[in-house]
Amino acid sequence: MTTIVTPSRSDRQLLARLLTEARDRTFQLLEPLSSKDLRAQHDPLMSPLLWDLGHIAHFEELWLTRNLDGQIEFVEMPGLYNPFEHPRSTRGSLPLPDLERCRAIMDEIRQRVLQRLDEADLDSAGPLLRDGYVYQMVLQHEYQHNETMLQTLQLKQGQPYTPVERQSPPAGPAKVLTGGMALFPGGSVPIGTDDRSAAYDNERPAHLVKLEPFWIDVTPVTNGEFVEFIESGGYSNREFWSEAGWRWLETSGVQCPKYWSPTAAGWSTRSMDQVQPLDPRHPVAHVCYYEAEAYARFRGKRLPTEFEWEAAASWEPAAQYKRQFPWGDAPVTSKLANVDQLMFGTTPVGSYPENVSPIGCYGMIGDVWEWTSSNFEGYPEFESFPYPEYSEAFFGSEYKVLRGGSWATRPGAIRNTFRNWDYPIRRQIFSGFRCASDA
Ligand SMILES: [Fe+2]
Repeated sequence: MTTIVTPSRSDRQLLARLLTEARDRTFQLLEPLSSKDLRAQHDPLMSPLLWDLGHIAHFEELWLTRNLDGQIEFVEMPGLYNPFEHPRSTRGSLPLPDLERCRAIMDEIRQRVLQRLDEADLDSAGPLLRDGYVYQMVLQHEYQHNETMLQTLQLKQGQPYTPVERQSPPAGPAKVLTGGMALFPGGSVPIGTDDRSAAYDNERPAHLVKLEPFWIDVTPVTNGEFVEFIESGGYSNREFWSEAGWRWLETSGVQCPKYWSPTAAGWSTRSMDQVQPLDPRHPVAHVCYYEAEAYARFRGKRLPTEFEWEAAASWEPAAQYKRQFPWGDAPVTSKLANVDQLMFGTTPVGSYPENVSPIGCYGMIGDVWEWTSSNFEGYPEFESFPYPEYSEAFFGSEYKVLRGGSWATRPGAIRNTFRNWDYPIRRQIFSGFRCASDA
């Protein structure tokens, strides 16, 4: 008897399940909100949440129906939901349909997408469909918008946001890990990936980068360590700041990380509806690149380059092996690292004992994105795929690369090679950092 193996069929079922799961999470996040909250522009940096919803659906329609059947359009989408036509700060005045109408549009698109998926040739020679790449791309797009929506929810005006479900953090770390540094021995290290099933174009191609030996912090910088910077006059001492950083500091008047408040009893910090005394064991969050850079200088250190970060997270010098995640090749789950949103905040550094890289760095995935000193640029022989507006349009010295994902990142949208980027002044993102120094 011959068994006919049809791997694509099970892949199709898996992709359909993932699409449904992603949509369920999107609506779970928005469930507690009133129609006024959904339509409001809570901050000029963020879109109204109704815009995110419509944009997610139209992006999906573009890539999983139209572009599969016709010529690939290298534009995101026309009209209301085109991010290039409508900068974020203007989206509050767009005539967005209400939630009921928006949901109907989303459901209708999803139905067509699932029908089309049923016929999709995932063994296709074309790189868009092969191994379900375009489905993974659309899934990651929704995951990434979930994180953006959480930034909006943290910035929310009026009553603070109360999630429908909140996980409790794991028992605290067995030992205090802060203050230590791990040595990376240097050498020629593979950076990036050739994966074409899920990785974005900006992660490709894999290439060797020669690194000098360097030290890197064993954990992200903690709140407790950052308080020492503040108490030593870090925000008023010019020598710690770069020229651009000092300019930003003078105009912004910032004196502490975003969402910190001074109280009679010390600092307090807010995550969504939870205001708590500052926990010194958590990684510092909501700092911009310039603050990270100044802190590093205060300690006589510097920020790692994104290559150093990736080497410290992935490379096993003894085995000459590159791991997909700090702990190995097992996919990320919320058991291994603080990811997947439902913690609604950071956890003490070292809370996930398995989340350790070959050279001994903890928490490189999850909790907070980590600023690096690198500008967002294409790797040598970069090829834009499948559209230049995802990565290439942003290459240049305006943006700094962040690595590692945060508590608000969905597991399907993070890996050692994943590159995020933002302006060096941004603080609404779930961003922290760790320091490095030359060996
Ligand atoms: Fe988008």
